[in-house]
Amino acid sequence: MNQGTGVAASGRASVPDTLRTAANVLLPTVAQGVIARRPKVVGAFDRLDADRRAVAHMQQLAERYGPGPVRLNVPGRSFALVLDPEHVHRILEGSPEPFATANLEKRAALNHFQPGGVLISHGRERAERRRFNEAVLDTSQPVHRMADRIVATVRDEAEQLAAQAQGSGQLVWDDFIVAWWRVVRRVVLGDGARDDHETTDLLSRLRAEANWSYLLPRRSSVYDRFKERLRTHLERAEPGSLAALIAETPQAAHTDPVDQVPQWLFAFDPAGMVAIRALALLATHPEPAREVREEIDGVDLSTPQELRRTRAAMLESVRLWPTTPAVLRDSTTETTWPTGTLPAGTGFLIYAPYFHRDDRTLDYADRFAPEVWLDERGHGDWPLIPFSEGPGVCPGQNLVLLTTSTFLACLLRSHEFRLLGPDRLDPARPLPATLSPFDVRFAVSDRGRP
Ligand code: HEM
Repeated sequence: MNQGTGVAASGRASVPDTLRTAANVLLPTVAQGVIARRPKVVGAFDRLDADRRAVAHMQQLAERYGPGPVRLNVPGRSFALVLDPEHVHRILEGSPEPFATANLEKRAALNHFQPGGVLISHGRERAERRRFNEAVLDTSQPVHRMADRIVATVRDEAEQLAAQAQGSGQLVWDDFIVAWWRVVRRVVLGDGARDDHETTDLLSRLRAEANWSYLLPRRSSVYDRFKERLRTHLERAEPGSLAALIAETPQAAHTDPVDQVPQWLFAFDPAGMVAIRALALLATHPEPAREVREEIDGVDLSTPQELRRTRAAMLESVRLWPTTPAVLRDSTTETTWPTGTLPAGTGFLIYAPYFHRDDRTLDYADRFAPEVWLDERGHGDWPLIPFSEGPGVCPGQNLVLLTTSTFLACLLRSHEFRLLGPDRLDPARPLPATLSPFDVRFAVSDRGRP
């Protein structure tokens, strides 16, 4: 990372640089919807390749100010941009003390549908909730202890989706996401929730409001209806679902599952975006696609397993287009940096695309490089953090990679997917920095395999 000169010493961005950061980084991130993506806005920013500008702007800031963190010139809030890889690790490894996951802006947003969620909790409550999440989600296990059932569900829905797509000759986002949500509801809440679109719709409404953070109050009636439906599903504790595991997992005073499960449902949704983008990458990159096919053709997909290459394609999709672009922390004490001291209560923004797409450091920044995830040394200490890292790392990472990779594997095993659009995923050109999942379309044909 280049050391800046002059202005670097203060670590405080000038007013014009603060305004440029707002226009190039903060506004596009917020406008596209932090909690629920707004398809039309995403489409508009996709055409502008907005994240490319954001990354270029962050690079300019790093040139100008050095390693930072760079404090923005905002009245009433101490807020800093993290520009140095070592600072990323320091902050994420130092969560939740002195870098709390329960950041001010995140709390305001997530309060709309998960006021007692682990991500916006602190202290003892957070510790209890984290333990509960890890216990049910089997955080450390690549293959969840209930994988037999999960894999059977995923296969069932993937087969139905593939048959439908073959019938129409096409696969589009709207069909893909309906099938994906069926998987999610069945895995989390049980088969009885398969067609409960209403619970998903209520959550979508709450998430749409959460995009407005503290500008909108929580709509109690929608939240109450959502919680009621969720509680009914959880009380069913249907065998084979996470709800059943919840019922047999010891709970502490602050681990009401109705407060924890909304994050799971919410987080499974962008996994569908990651999956359809991975399918688009595989449809346009023959060599990685050949390797993935070799992997899935050589195994029995009814046996739960870690499909390493298919997972790597998913990880690459979420590196290229992170679904949590803004990882936020608030400091709980004064913290000291090369640029000076920042007060307790400073918000730190780690803008993931800046690190994931840094073409000054990564020769694979703008290409599809699943091999990076297959070799531990692939990215060394460089922060590739689509699932965050440290004590606040996503506890659902292994579960979501198991479900999505199996879903993709089942589709690819039986069918060919030819990308009809968008037309910007050419292996010979840098991949776009922004890619709307809502416009991805495939022509589908049978591969003649069961
Ligand atoms: C592609 C899908 C997913 C991605 C990219 C992802 C990414 C992340 C990231 C970056 C964080 C940290 C956020 C922060 O620090 O502000 C996080 C937290 C979390 N994720 Fe995921 N996630 C995904 C799916 C899931 C799923 C399916 C579940 C549960 C079934 C889940 C459960 C959680 C929970 C409970 C937290 C809060 C952890 C804590 O604060 O200790 N995630 N996720």
